[in-house]
Amino acid sequence: MSEKSLKVALLGFGVVGSGTAEVITENQDRIRLATGGAMEIRYILDLRDFPDSPFADRIVHDYNIILNDPEVDAVVEMMGGSHPAYEFTKSALMAGKHVVTSNKEVVANFGTELLSIAAEHGVRYLFEASVGGGIPVLRPLAQDMAANRVRAVNGILNGTTNYILTAMKSGASFDEVLARAQELGYAERNPSADVDGPDAARKIVILTAMSTGLRVDPNTIPMEGIRNIKNEDVAVAESCGCAIKLIGHMGFVEDKLSVWVAPCFVPEAHPLNHIDDVFNGVLIDTDMLGQTLFYGRGAGKLPTAGAVVSDLTDIATHPYDADTAMRWVDATPDQIAPAGAEKLSVCLIYDKGAEPSQDGALQYVDTGDRKAVILPPMTTDEIEATVAKGAARPVAQYRVLPL
Ligand code: HSE
Repeated sequence: MSEKSLKVALLGFGVVGSGTAEVITENQDRIRLATGGAMEIRYILDLRDFPDSPFADRIVHDYNIILNDPEVDAVVEMMGGSHPAYEFTKSALMAGKHVVTSNKEVVANFGTELLSIAAEHGVRYLFEASVGGGIPVLRPLAQDMAANRVRAVNGILNGTTNYILTAMKSGASFDEVLARAQELGYAERNPSADVDGPDAARKIVILTAMSTGLRVDPNTIPMEGIRNIKNEDVAVAESCGCAIKLIGHMGFVEDKLSVWVAPCFVPEAHPLNHIDDVFNGVLIDTDMLGQTLFYGRGAGKLPTAGAVVSDLTDIATHPYDADTAMRWVDATPDQIAPAGAEKLSVCLIYDKGAEPSQDGALQYVDTGDRKAVILPPMTTDEIEATVAKGAARPVAQYRVLPL
């Protein structure tokens, strides 16, 4: 009898694609132990040729070769971007092939439809590497925490921006650090997706859907990136005993979802405060467990590739099961709280010449360059009303994460 083997086709031979080939090759013995069989790379689809690569004989340029080969069990999509990655994923699922991806853009935008197509065709669509890079978080959320109701998720979900914000604490320039993140393979092809928040938005949308079964449109959630953060703001945060982190948040206002991305003040005692450099942290709060923190490398070739290959081992050991197949539903507007309706503490930062009111303030700091007050939890409308009553306008404001 021939040996059991999972035959895979890789779409994309860039950072994560070449890492996936490396993990499958280097850790073949470990994969055999986990799955009871081999894992074989049958094809690699890329526009380029790689004559010096040990995988040169597997390179193809025509996707139909993969689609039409009945021996291919699983397609691994690591192309990035929505198109043609979405179309390729859909046609692979419809051809009865499992699909694994690290592509958060496709999962966040089209996950509801693609999971439904996968179920119709009796195959699996898995995307552990799409959130938190190499950190196992989606499978634990779906399986190990299945008996828990998720109350909130707060995450440092983008390695590039965390790398930049960490370096800014020592005075490094934004452009210099971004260039380094690109060299290390952390940044997206278009780094605006990192810096302006869309990458973190896609990841919190996926975490929300894994927590609640509801997919919120990533293009409509309130989102703010890190481009406008000044070194003076970083100094204010430090004076308040906080670090500035780009946070992806999911919570509830009564029974409605509140999902957003914004740079926040994270207090010293908060579990996300000391997560620096490219590391990600996902803090999940549930009714039974309370808080639990998932921490590790959120980007980079081998960490991400390790998560991709773990999905393949899951497929090898747990083929499609109609009873447990995951399905999402797109959230309707009445299931989503109005923007800014969640009450959170806020830090208002003023220019050094201003005289901000300290009425009701929890904390007041003067760094020499800036003055700032931290106010108790309030909605965005309440912040606006408070600011309107004062003589000075703040130059910046940040939400403060509760402990
Ligand atoms: N650009 C992403 C990041 C890669 O920096 O986190 C991992 O999704």
